[in-house]
Amino acid sequence: MPTRNAALQDLLLSVQEALADRPLGPEAAAAIDKIYGALAAPGPSGPSKARRLPVCAHLPGALQTARAHSAPIARIADAFAAIEPSLFWAPRAAGGLHASASWAEGHANATIIGPGGLEDRADLLVGVSLLAPHVRYPDHNHGPEEVYLVLSPGRFQHGASGWFEPGIGGTLYNEPSIKHAMASDDAPLFALWCLWAATDGSRA
Ligand SMILES: [Fe+2]
Repeated sequence: MPTRNAALQDLLLSVQEALADRPLGPEAAAAIDKIYGALAAPGPSGPSKARRLPVCAHLPGALQTARAHSAPIARIADAFAAIEPSLFWAPRAAGGLHASASWAEGHANATIIGPGGLEDRADLLVGVSLLAPHVRYPDHNHGPEEVYLVLSPGRFQHGASGWFEPGIGGTLYNEPSIKHAMASDDAPLFALWCLWAATDGSRA
């Protein structure tokens, strides 16, 4: 059976504890239960390739903002910083409606667990999105349901909702195939997402 890198395990545990502290709705709570149930068994190691993109220059500042929020979020930021040098940052494969002109160069995603991630598996996805300031991510949707743990300022929208700001440590749940988007204002947006029943990568 594969083993899990201690730093990755610490990140997963810190996220699980932060989520346990939140008033998750029943659908999000059920999705997290399924994801963490599956994560009890580590997946096989993924390809050992790592890459940063220019937008990653916003990451240290975003992590500092997260660390200043609270001890549980600081623990996540520290655990993420420990594994980040192993991640492969990439732009989203497909665009979509309403993306800002700044989006293409102004965002990157990294899969932590899932296809091409540190654990290469197809049953779920854990990853992060980073947006430079003043970037509007395109409208998009995907089959897997999704729970976000937001680690920075920034706005989100899903379905017929208006824009809302979960705040650092806030969460949101995207039901399967719901249209959703996110946008940064003066600060970078940094958020972690977990998708259940993922079938391929780059879904955030
Ligand atoms: Fe998404």
